[in-house]
Amino acid sequence: MTTHVWDYLPEYENEKDDILAAVEKVFSSGRLVLGESVQGFEREFADYHGLAHCTGVDNGTNALKLALEALGVGPGDEVITVSNTAAPTVIAIVGAGATPVFVDVREEDFLMDTDQVEAAITPRTKVILPVHLYGQCVDMAPLKRIAEKHGLKILEDCAQAHGARHHGRIAGTMGDAAAFSFYPTKVLGAYGDGGAVVTADDETDRALRALRYYGMEKVYYVVRTPGHNSRLDEVQAEILRTKLARLDEYIEGRNAIARRYEEGLGDLTGPGRLQLPATNAGNTHVYYVYVVRHPERDRIIEALKAYDINLNISYPWPVHTMSGFAHLGWGEQSLPVTERLAKEIFSLPMYPSLPESVQDKTIAALRDVLASL
Ligand SMILES: Cc1ncc(COP(=O)(O)O)c(C=O)c1O
Repeated sequence: MTTHVWDYLPEYENEKDDILAAVEKVFSSGRLVLGESVQGFEREFADYHGLAHCTGVDNGTNALKLALEALGVGPGDEVITVSNTAAPTVIAIVGAGATPVFVDVREEDFLMDTDQVEAAITPRTKVILPVHLYGQCVDMAPLKRIAEKHGLKILEDCAQAHGARHHGRIAGTMGDAAAFSFYPTKVLGAYGDGGAVVTADDETDRALRALRYYGMEKVYYVVRTPGHNSRLDEVQAEILRTKLARLDEYIEGRNAIARRYEEGLGDLTGPGRLQLPATNAGNTHVYYVYVVRHPERDRIIEALKAYDINLNISYPWPVHTMSGFAHLGWGEQSLPVTERLAKEIFSLPMYPSLPESVQDKTIAALRDVLASL
């Protein structure tokens, strides 16, 4: 069987009874939209973060977009973020009517280069949007200093960092609000689409609840600011409740696989050779994806196909170079590290129920391929 970077079927096999019981609970509850399951999940997810509020929404892209709107972002505003991210980070900014302003990422960890942020601030800047990419947090202390000095808000993109820690703080608790995706591949994934925004701020949460419900504060209430229909589905919320109870277990499982990759491939690393993920001091990585780097990336990926291993690249095209964002005016060469990485990174299979035999097969195949280059 072909090996892919992700497969949910082994997990479903292990957790089938709980998943189907969650579906049955919702179907027999008599309430299919914004009922007890969404409320329960919101409470439990807020508690997991030690925060007052969580608003469940329909996906991570809208979690970001609604959070930006709730933080007061709109046309004419600028949001500072990175281009080495999933396109939805940028789509959400554009969707809120604002303009994304990019800074580059760092060679060591592929995360936002916080040294570049202050120079990117203009009178129009409203929000800094760090992306805790691949499963570990951006260095938040400098961002918080900059945000405070310039009166900016911070929105954390936690789509890839459920449960990650940063100097003891959990991802999503270090800014003014944080957006999560529960797309099935995520560290906490639903069996379909889902998303959420967490915040400590009552006013931001109040705005979010209205924004996800047409702009109404309760059923058939007056709309003051037209909103969206962006509700988290009851079935997905109930499934997420059963999976939230296992989140720390999933994270341990991902870390065990990362350790196995390090043991199996660590001796092949070095300048111009293989680069394995580096975990920054103070961070606990949750390995949403296990991203490695090699200058001969394309040859490696091609050669691995002969071993029946089909790998992904997160991400092959920096967002600022995509034709859909050409109007923003960020040409090639504007973010050199991001552009270089896009040509050299690739991801190894990573999900908690990844069989050890497949981990071993991947290590052995990669060793073979690297030896033959
Ligand atoms: C960093 C990042 N932000 C935002 C999103 C958007 O999430 P969703 O696919 O649930 O809309 C994703 C997932 O694709 C992501 O990886």
